[in-house]
Amino acid sequence: MSSSVDAARGPGSGEHPAARGDLEDIELSLLLEGIFRQYGFDFREYAPASLRRRVWRRVYAESLSTISALQDKLLHDPACMERLLLDLSINVTAMYRDPSFYVSFREKVVPLLRTYPFTRIWVAGCSTGEEVYSLAILMQEEGLYERTRIYATDINESVLERARAGVFPLDKMREYTQNYIRAGGSRAFSEYYLAKYDGAQFQRSLIENVVFAQHNLVSDRSFNEFNVIICRNVMIYFDRALQDRVHRLFHESLMTLGVLGLGAKESISFSPHADCYEELDANERLYRKAR
Ligand SMILES: C[S@@+](CC[C@H](N)C(=O)[O-])C[C@H]1O[C@@H](n2cnc3c(N)ncnc32)[C@H](O)[C@@H]1O
Repeated sequence: MSSSVDAARGPGSGEHPAARGDLEDIELSLLLEGIFRQYGFDFREYAPASLRRRVWRRVYAESLSTISALQDKLLHDPACMERLLLDLSINVTAMYRDPSFYVSFREKVVPLLRTYPFTRIWVAGCSTGEEVYSLAILMQEEGLYERTRIYATDINESVLERARAGVFPLDKMREYTQNYIRAGGSRAFSEYYLAKYDGAQFQRSLIENVVFAQHNLVSDRSFNEFNVIICRNVMIYFDRALQDRVHRLFHESLMTLGVLGLGAKESISFSPHADCYEELDANERLYRKAR
């Protein structure tokens, strides 16, 4: 990227490369400060390397040449902010992503949930909802859905709209059926959706007990006490300080003996709250709040 950046700044500018790096850091931190103050989205503690890459991608997509120019544009143009938000919040997801997580959830978490009259599950960073529908199907198959409420949140309102609609690409259904079977599903997966043109419309009854809402893990507070919190593949984009803050939020929001589920590349181990949890299944990143 640096060559195109150099080109954008003009050849022979005479700037020392280190000075250019410093200037980029200043522009980036001013941009993030501006976004926070104008729109309330706080990306100031996101891991810098991928943030920088995504910001530059938006600079070029808007036909601009500097981060400062992007700052000027998006402070005055909320639609530009929406576009950057989509770039920054990586929304990749899948139904029954990492199927072994769901096998372990069935074996180790479901028996605990049977002991409660009612279960509240928070899926934080749910993206377009594939994870939520996967969980709703699992809870239905285990006979627990009627006494479950799932709170599905994300920072990004446009992915939540897609989640509410519950239409996923039809050409993904072969892969999702395989994942479902590997996740311990025992029915015909096609029972859960209707094919419509190139989309698969999932049964509306699956989201009867789901509340979709915008929630920013960085700046918003807890909004309930949960038996289970699932937050997978979200904190990998945060730096350590921010991860610690989100872990504090989860610790406050989980009832004692509640379960925390993280993504395959995430762990509670390095968080200041590590001592508060026992491993339910360390391989599958399932932990139980002990204190
Ligand atoms: C890679 S997706 C993970 C989706 C799903 N949990 C999974 O594992 O398949 C990450 C999601 O986190 C959301 N996200 C990023 N920063 C967030 C924040 N500060 N608060 C809430 N959600 C956030 C993004 O919008 C995105 O939808």
